[in-house]
Amino acid sequence: MTAVGIDAVELWSGNLKLDLPETFAPVKGDDPEKYTKGLGLTSSSLPDTYEDIVTMGANAAYRLLDRKNIDLEDIGRIDVATESAFDNSKPVSTYVAGCLEDVFEGDLHHADKGERKFACLAGTQALNDAYNWIAADRHRGRSALVIATDTALYARGDAGEATQGAGAVAMLISEEPNLVELSAEYGIGSADETDFLKPNQQFPSVDGKRSVQVYLARMREALEDYKKAAGDIHPDDFIYGPFHTPYPGMVRKAAVLAYRNTIRGTDIEEEITDEIGPQPHPDNFDDNDEYQEAIRAYTDALSETEQYQNWYDDQISPTLRISRQVGNWYTGSVHIARTSALLNAVDRGIDPVGETMLVGSYGSGAQAEIHSERIREGWKDEISQLNIEEQLDDRYDLTFEEYELVHDAHNHDVDAEVDPFTAPSGEFVFDGWGRMGERKYRFVE
Ligand code: COA
Repeated sequence: MTAVGIDAVELWSGNLKLDLPETFAPVKGDDPEKYTKGLGLTSSSLPDTYEDIVTMGANAAYRLLDRKNIDLEDIGRIDVATESAFDNSKPVSTYVAGCLEDVFEGDLHHADKGERKFACLAGTQALNDAYNWIAADRHRGRSALVIATDTALYARGDAGEATQGAGAVAMLISEEPNLVELSAEYGIGSADETDFLKPNQQFPSVDGKRSVQVYLARMREALEDYKKAAGDIHPDDFIYGPFHTPYPGMVRKAAVLAYRNTIRGTDIEEEITDEIGPQPHPDNFDDNDEYQEAIRAYTDALSETEQYQNWYDDQISPTLRISRQVGNWYTGSVHIARTSALLNAVDRGIDPVGETMLVGSYGSGAQAEIHSERIREGWKDEISQLNIEEQLDDRYDLTFEEYELVHDAHNHDVDAEVDPFTAPSGEFVFDGWGRMGERKYRFVE
């Protein structure tokens, strides 16, 4: 079979910024380091009053199709992954297609459109759907457009308010891709959980502390399942490990557990055993509490070793670069982690063609997925064309009072007339309501 994977990627950030240590922490009475060091965040991206999941998704897709000079007829499928949908029937992908048809020649009448839902995991599931569609040879030489778009807003005062974000990732999935090839092997860890849900409500019900535990448990299961498909793995098999990043501190917790798991039975474990002793095994303990205590102590010691810290600095920390500045983009989050890693490779001036990344996605409710991606020849040309740093620098920096207005403007239960803080340029904007309650959009030159 020919290689199938991500040919190109584009990111679109919400146009507003909430500075967490400077603006949010003082009003909350928190130490700014809770945000910068604990959660690992400096700011959140938020949507201006004319932005929503459609505008952000359409803007990311517009940039991608425009710079790649792709005809609409070359797209055979559009899947939007989101957990911020506003319609239980009409999928967001139809709105996005309408936007694209307004500005490009041709149409998308023969593109299969849908919407994918499994919390933050849905973006990766949509990638897998596109992969399967191409691998089954049902695509007639065309590509799939996968868009992960979310406004990750929480109720005011919820603990999750600190980890908000808004943005979209558009990905073109093709044969012989320029960026990365997706592995056929993947692993799943899945269980019926109630850590985070939105039962017909705009803002999520979240058990934040539990969601952290569920993330770790499902990720571990997915890793074991991936090894069943792909065979044993060694930390040095991978150049980067992009993981779902609701906030960078979550990945810090997951990384040490992933390292503990993947060094088992390797030369690295042997080397580390000389320094901190062997990994505790449950069979060697009469009591589970004692085992838990021993494994916690081992993990803490492991996180202090030079081997672990070098691995974390090389493979994990670079994946957090964009997340630190934008917060949680839900379905887009793991895809910005991959992009951050590749931007890091550009900065380091390395040539990672043929190298592999281990990609871990997660959605509350709950399911994790792990697969690998091999970096392709055209990666640098693609990644060098992103303007995400510029977008982030251009965001309007909100005061706390302005943030409150923006939150109200997007709150479906509040009737708030709020003027935009930025002037749109070269992008789609929300343009009011139609006769059946549908949303209208227009492109602003
Ligand atoms: N300096 C350094 N670190 C600090 C600090 C300071 N002054 N103050 C707090 N911290 C650390 C805490 O120790 C904690 O780190 P730890 O978990 O490694 O112990 C971290 O900052 C967060 O502090 P905490 O008090 O736990 O924050 P919180 O009660 O506001 O809740 C979440 C944090 C993540 C649970 C909350 O933001 C949330 O519910 N988010 C949405 C759900 C989510 O994203 N889940 C992830 C799985 S998908």
